[in-house]
Amino acid sequence: MIIVAGSSHTDLSARLAKSLSTSCLFARVRSFSDQELRVQIEGSLYNEEVVLIQSTCKPANDHVMELLLLADTAKRAGAAKIIALVPYFGYGRQDRPSYIHGPISASLIANLLETSGIDRFITVDLHSKQTEGFFKIRVQNLSPIALFAQTLQPTRSMIVVSPDIGGLRRAQIFSDYLGLELAVIHKHRDPSGTCAMSHVIGTPAGKECLIIDDIIDTGDTLFKACHLLKDQGALSIKAFITHGVLSGNCLEKLEYAPLDSLVITNTIPHPQLSKKITVIDIETLIKGALLN
Ligand code: R5P
Repeated sequence: MIIVAGSSHTDLSARLAKSLSTSCLFARVRSFSDQELRVQIEGSLYNEEVVLIQSTCKPANDHVMELLLLADTAKRAGAAKIIALVPYFGYGRQDRPSYIHGPISASLIANLLETSGIDRFITVDLHSKQTEGFFKIRVQNLSPIALFAQTLQPTRSMIVVSPDIGGLRRAQIFSDYLGLELAVIHKHRDPSGTCAMSHVIGTPAGKECLIIDDIIDTGDTLFKACHLLKDQGALSIKAFITHGVLSGNCLEKLEYAPLDSLVITNTIPHPQLSKKITVIDIETLIKGALLN
């Protein structure tokens, strides 16, 4: 097995290669003056099982394109098998049309990845389980729930909260795992993408709320959920969110939000984060998947 690190996740790639006692080749990524990408992998991939590591996080379009070009490079170099290890699958949340005749972007990206030559797709916490069906190849959609649960001592004063109906399945698994009650917030987005939350199905009053979600991007969903739960009498709020996209002024808003702490994973690397945030390493999770 040879690991090829895309530009999004070089640190995780190097650590994983070390722990698997295999080599890590760092892709050379340059661009023409019009931003067209040009990638190069220096080293032989002939007859090797090649693991391409790349999160399609910001800049999402460049990271997607880079991954496609790396897969094509590996295929043309005669790799025996190409595994795309994509800790964060950017575009994954667009898993259905958001308006009549709108695109299903996650499905298109899945098709492009297959066309580029990948044989197996490993990722963490897809936005929806049905996204696995966009691929015809083997998909391993890893759950961080056990890692989140390890940071907690569940008590009967805790309740798991899903910030929207779409996340209910994930929240149900978390609440079953911890043996806790479950609540769900009614969230809807207007056509501009702004979300509004009107009520909670469940009883957060007097409880330590554990919000679980797949993505924190602008923080709009999480922070509105926190305000609603506080208004309904929540004692404290802790959030467990797999992918820290953290775009715009999300980190600034986090400081003032009525949220006690936020646990994320390192599916997307960040140089430095708020003291309110704990980052869980997914290395053992993806290593286990690679060996299976
Ligand atoms: C939505 O369906 C997702 O599960 C997340 O709740 C959403 O993408 C988070 O985005 P933001 O932080 O911008 O509200």
